[in-house]
Amino acid sequence: MLSPENIPWDAYDALLKEKLKPSRYTHSLCVMERAVELALKNGVDTTRARLAGLLHDIMKNVPDKEMLQFIEDSGIILLYADLCAPQLWHAIAGAAYMKEKLGIDDPDVLNAVRYHTTGRAGMSPLEKVVYLADLTSADRDYPDVKKARRIADRSLDEGVLYGSEYLISDLVGRERVLHPDTLACYDELIKKGVRANGK
Ligand SMILES: [Fe+2]
Ligand SMILES: [Fe+2]
Repeated sequence: MLSPENIPWDAYDALLKEKLKPSRYTHSLCVMERAVELALKNGVDTTRARLAGLLHDIMKNVPDKEMLQFIEDSGIILLYADLCAPQLWHAIAGAAYMKEKLGIDDPDVLNAVRYHTTGRAGMSPLEKVVYLADLTSADRDYPDVKKARRIADRSLDEGVLYGSEYLISDLVGRERVLHPDTLACYDELIKKGVRANGK
């Protein structure tokens, strides 16, 4: 059972300071705060949101080669689509690091980190909270961030759909490979009747 008193917050803070560049460390704190805010709004467990938000980018500044080695050593087999997208390796490696090195075994927390970059079909409310916290944290300043924040505040599903649309059009615009989890995330929400725009 995850309870805030049993989580070594100070040790995790020190670890993040050691592993991350200063701007990425600040981003992690902002995502943690935003994850707690969205969790409170949506009846999601705030301890899990705080933990996943804080640690979601723990492997972000590890060199690609080292990250791939860590993923391989963890027994994870990457899909071809994963190999084509180095920007999401840190999510896979991050969840594996949390499980193996930090002994975190809560599947929802691990999945929230694992899928924070791509999304996926069948996301839990915690996964959506962390995905959206990453996209709409206070340090983010991409052109549509205010709109993304408004939509995320209104509805987790609409926020995740908007995030998927943004990600897909960005990748298409740059002629990059689309990850099947991102497409599955988008498709599921559209089939459910969720719409992010035009309201
Ligand atoms: Fe990330
Ligand atoms: Fe992030």
